[in-house]
Amino acid sequence: MIRWLLAAAATAASGCSGNQSMFNPQGPPARSIASLGWFLFGVSAVVYVAVLVPTAWALVRRRQRSDDEPDTDRALTRWVTAAAGVTVVTLIVLTVVSVSAGRGLTSPSGQGAVTVDVIGHQWWWDFQYRDVSPGDTFASPNELHIPVGVPIVLNVVSRDVIHSFWVPNLHGKRDLIPGQVTRTWIQADTPGVYRGQCAEFCGHQHANMGLTVVAEPIAQFQVWLQRQRQPAAEPVTPEQRQGRDVFLQSPCASCHTVRGTDAGSRFGPDLTHVASRLTIASGTLPNTREHLTRWIADPQAIKPGSRMPSHVRSAADGEAVVSYLRSLR
Ligand code: CUA
Repeated sequence: MIRWLLAAAATAASGCSGNQSMFNPQGPPARSIASLGWFLFGVSAVVYVAVLVPTAWALVRRRQRSDDEPDTDRALTRWVTAAAGVTVVTLIVLTVVSVSAGRGLTSPSGQGAVTVDVIGHQWWWDFQYRDVSPGDTFASPNELHIPVGVPIVLNVVSRDVIHSFWVPNLHGKRDLIPGQVTRTWIQADTPGVYRGQCAEFCGHQHANMGLTVVAEPIAQFQVWLQRQRQPAAEPVTPEQRQGRDVFLQSPCASCHTVRGTDAGSRFGPDLTHVASRLTIASGTLPNTREHLTRWIADPQAIKPGSRMPSHVRSAADGEAVVSYLRSLR
């Protein structure tokens, strides 16, 4: 029994830290939400005790007393009036605190240092960096890189159904509505990798619609930015060259973009720098050679219902494509 309780407590406590937890806030909006959450929890705990203790006391007293006391009615009126007064004051305080916390969250205070378009798809995230001159626009699907210590403005929209952008360490949820661009913002004060998750049920693979936020010092972010703006690297080895040929001649090229090649479709995630990312399949698997091979060979086994079909005709072709994609750093 004790072991079971300890395990339950450890499980509950583990939700309070980590890189996908609102109880481990890493920026001003998330901190404001966490503070509000703890304040509401504290008030609720006090109210809970304040209701249960007199209830228990009344039950005990009722059994002890045999006849009516004359003062009971007047005392009761005083107690009820006091309780009603405390309740009203509590509700007013909760409203003021909630509204003021909410006001600080809705609009970015000042200009965002970076603006990113967030586009939801079934079941992946497209992050488009457009702050730069039009030719420099690039996409970083499923992986959002941000500099630390500055507000990042996000223009969010969906291409199909309603999704919800949620990185608990950095801010609350923001729904992605088809055809309706709305704004939100995030800010990370400490470098780190934070995990986000689609928070609105959006179909079969809703649970596997994850994302990664990489918060890094500004100099490191600039290096990443420069790298991402470049077109895809040229294949070096014969196997990589073969992989590119297979990729461009197969239906892969009619869904994905690899900048610098003829593949320019926006239907699936941009693969220009796919090897630089931490995960594949929208946060479903770590980005290793083994996982990429499995994913390309049979996407439906890993993410049933995903829009990604299998087109690889032979194991050799698959290996070549994997080698090519692994070279796109
Ligand atoms: Cu997208 Cu749930």
